[in-house]
Amino acid sequence: MHRFNYHEIRTPVFEETALFARGIGEDTDIVGKEMYTFLDKGKTSLTLRPEMTAPVVRSYLQHNLQHQSPLQKLYYIAPMFRQERPQAGRLRQFHQFGMEAIGLDSPRLDAEVIALAVQIYTALDISFSLKINSVGDPGCRPAYRKELQAFLVSAFDDLSADSQRRMETNPLRVLDSKDPGDREVTKAAPSILDFLCEPCRTHFNDVLQLLDDIGVEYTVDPRLVRGLDYYTKTAFEFISADLGAQDALGGGGRYDNLAEQLGGKPTPAVGFAAGIERLLIVMEQNGFEFPESGIDVFLVALDDKSRQWAFRELYSLRSAGLAVDIDYAGRSIKAQMREANRQRARFVVIIGEEELATETASVKNMQVGEQHKVNFDDLQRFLVDNIPLAP
Ligand code: HAM
Repeated sequence: MHRFNYHEIRTPVFEETALFARGIGEDTDIVGKEMYTFLDKGKTSLTLRPEMTAPVVRSYLQHNLQHQSPLQKLYYIAPMFRQERPQAGRLRQFHQFGMEAIGLDSPRLDAEVIALAVQIYTALDISFSLKINSVGDPGCRPAYRKELQAFLVSAFDDLSADSQRRMETNPLRVLDSKDPGDREVTKAAPSILDFLCEPCRTHFNDVLQLLDDIGVEYTVDPRLVRGLDYYTKTAFEFISADLGAQDALGGGGRYDNLAEQLGGKPTPAVGFAAGIERLLIVMEQNGFEFPESGIDVFLVALDDKSRQWAFRELYSLRSAGLAVDIDYAGRSIKAQMREANRQRARFVVIIGEEELATETASVKNMQVGEQHKVNFDDLQRFLVDNIPLAP
């Protein structure tokens, strides 16, 4: 995010329910079925956020961020809540990272947001396919919607009950149905790409050209419609073959009318969000070794006097910037050494009667197995010199 000059934004975990109902759309699964909604003591309906785009735009408008700069590039890493049936890759509390570029309608921003997601997935060695589409805008979408609805009416008997119902309220979502029968039927459905108005078509072609320019591979999928109603023009999704039924790693798109829907001035914007747990599932499957950072020093004390000395030393080594720990259970030296290993300590400092008498600690470098005698006065210097301090 820093590389692409996006800045962090944090918003509250809950918002007024109306924000999501208006922003995401009443007819969507998220608003219709999946929100954790409750009344507070003042009888205001609140909802645990199911996503971050609406809250970020709410915050942008509330704090007049457009006065700071014509373009705000914001990112977040945060928990989201959706009351879905839990299964692999689908949780009721999950985490997203995402970014929103708010204020301008340049197709370069669509391409930048996609490129940023590509760089993150690539850095984590995650293979993906990118699907992209244009869902038009309120100028051209109604004509397509009508045409699609006419097609769905003609195929009514072959559609699932869900799609038969959706056909009325939100026909584009039928294209997104997972039902195999629906998928077969909609293969012959009209394509939105044949209905785009001139500005939407130009924008889409520009985005594709920019992706070609930077070597990002994609598949144009005219059936891609996202589960949130705020999208205009560009919509895209990253899919992983390593995930099961829940195969979307992340998705996003342009939402030029959301700010206005929430009571603000017309404010074009584009963004993306990725599910972090799904990312981890894929990384685990790829055999990714998650680095486990150990501590710098473990202090092993053999008797009460040594423990007293060690407790003081613990404090001063920590003040010097080292990550240090000690045994609190009064265990045997063997158990303490085992604990030091478990904590992946780089150095173990052993203190007993003899060490106290000579004011010399036994220091063991756990990585190379060497043992040193170090004078108490030199101990801190010795450890700091031998351990690169964390930033
Ligand atoms: P979304 O497609 O609803 O888009 O969610 C984005 C990603 O969050 C999904 O692709 C998936 O990886 C993850 N995700 C969603 N639901 C769950 C769940 N129940 N359990 C685990 N992971 C899940 C959005 O949320 C939009 N706000 C994206 C966006 C940002 N559009 C523009 N800007």
